[in-house]
Amino acid sequence: MTTGETTQRRQPARVADDPAERYEAITAASRRCACDAAAHLPGGDSRSTLCHPPYPLAFEEGRGCRVVDLDGNELLDFTGNHTSLIHGYGHPRILEAVADQLGKGTAFAGPTRAQVAFARQLCERIESLERVRFTSSGTEATLQSVRAARAYTGRQVIAKIEGGYNGSWDEVMVSTHPRAEQAGDRERPASVPASEGLAARAVSDVLVLPFNDEASTRRLLEEHGSSVAAVIVEPVLGSAGMIPADASYLRLLRELASRMGIVLIFDEVISFRVAHGGAEGHYGVRPDLTCLGKAIGGGFPLGVVGGRAEVMELFDPSGGQPRVPHPGSYNANPVSLVAGSASLELLTEEAVDRLNENGDALRRGLRAAFGEAGLAVQVTGLGSLFGIHFLRHPVRSYRDTLASDKGLRHRLFLGLVAEGVLIDPRGAGCLSTATGQAELDAFAGAVRRVAPSLAAGRRG
Ligand SMILES: Cc1ncc(COP(=O)(O)O)c(C=O)c1O
Repeated sequence: MTTGETTQRRQPARVADDPAERYEAITAASRRCACDAAAHLPGGDSRSTLCHPPYPLAFEEGRGCRVVDLDGNELLDFTGNHTSLIHGYGHPRILEAVADQLGKGTAFAGPTRAQVAFARQLCERIESLERVRFTSSGTEATLQSVRAARAYTGRQVIAKIEGGYNGSWDEVMVSTHPRAEQAGDRERPASVPASEGLAARAVSDVLVLPFNDEASTRRLLEEHGSSVAAVIVEPVLGSAGMIPADASYLRLLRELASRMGIVLIFDEVISFRVAHGGAEGHYGVRPDLTCLGKAIGGGFPLGVVGGRAEVMELFDPSGGQPRVPHPGSYNANPVSLVAGSASLELLTEEAVDRLNENGDALRRGLRAAFGEAGLAVQVTGLGSLFGIHFLRHPVRSYRDTLASDKGLRHRLFLGLVAEGVLIDPRGAGCLSTATGQAELDAFAGAVRRVAPSLAAGRRG
């Protein structure tokens, strides 16, 4: 299947107006799969962000910008496995590179040429990268970046953004999505554990910063800066719903970090795609360290931590035990490296420009479609990333999203599935290079058909 192709296995039948009823009516096999899974996996799940009521869709296959679920429903995919598949499913160039590597071997107890080639490619493309290391996930990349920052500065405290998600290890599992009653003052957010079982110090060692609030961030960093090792920030706040940073906010973080000897870390696991050289290129702000993941592996598990040579040297084991050891059985896995390298080659300046133009067009189309239904919706995003928030006021931070109508957002998600469109259940998504104008129009058309049933079921 290629962009614009219209052959579909099965068009989801229009069986009811209620989005939840429609979803359940067409997804019996996914329901059975969820029941079977629950016998062996807690909640039937291995990835908590994918679990949602009544049960998640289970998938059979994907091609280009389309996925097919277990019931044979074909959906236009606007998730790309939560931004990982920037060229859609099964791009032939990526599959070819992977097949070639599979024939040679999937893992070795030593370095490969693929490692050198991809490291060079990344350092040539992203301005701030002088040295890189490869991990197996974004989580490991952010963990190593913060550990290096602590070793480099000799300080303990980590400053992170309220509503920012930087992986699933202890210190960053703080204030990822705090409830309003836990979150403290807007200008001085509390450190709220996002999980039970975190190390107590992990929570108390985190300073939570309010995104895009320059005055409060300046005040907090001026109060605590001398004990802060790192500020870690996503240039586009992903899991909070694709909320872009103001350029002046990132510039402020850069200025304060430089003045106070803090390591500035850009978590570009999601945002890298917004410009050819990553979000740092888009914003013109250079971090000390950068973490990459998701799309950087071309659809395979891969993470990257990289940046200033002076900090990255801490990982250097060539003279004996490094100051920051970084072992890992699948670090720099060659299958992921060749997939990532092929994917990055395909992501030319022109490809990024087209993705971004399509992203602008999609956001315009969605605003118009919701507006016609009389629904107050904010569509956020940057480049090929979008977020949908059922709110009247503009969204510039996680705090701004707290009052959004999550029930309506969930009904939108279910209703869109019934219309053959897949987004992240949290109301966000992205485009791939396989997505064309026909798919953008189809998405807006689906919103037009679902919106009236949302407007009818709106609370209050
Ligand atoms: C911004 C950001 N950083 C880090 C991570 C962690 O990456 P991974 O899921 O590969 O561990 C994610 C994952 O969603 C992310 O969105």
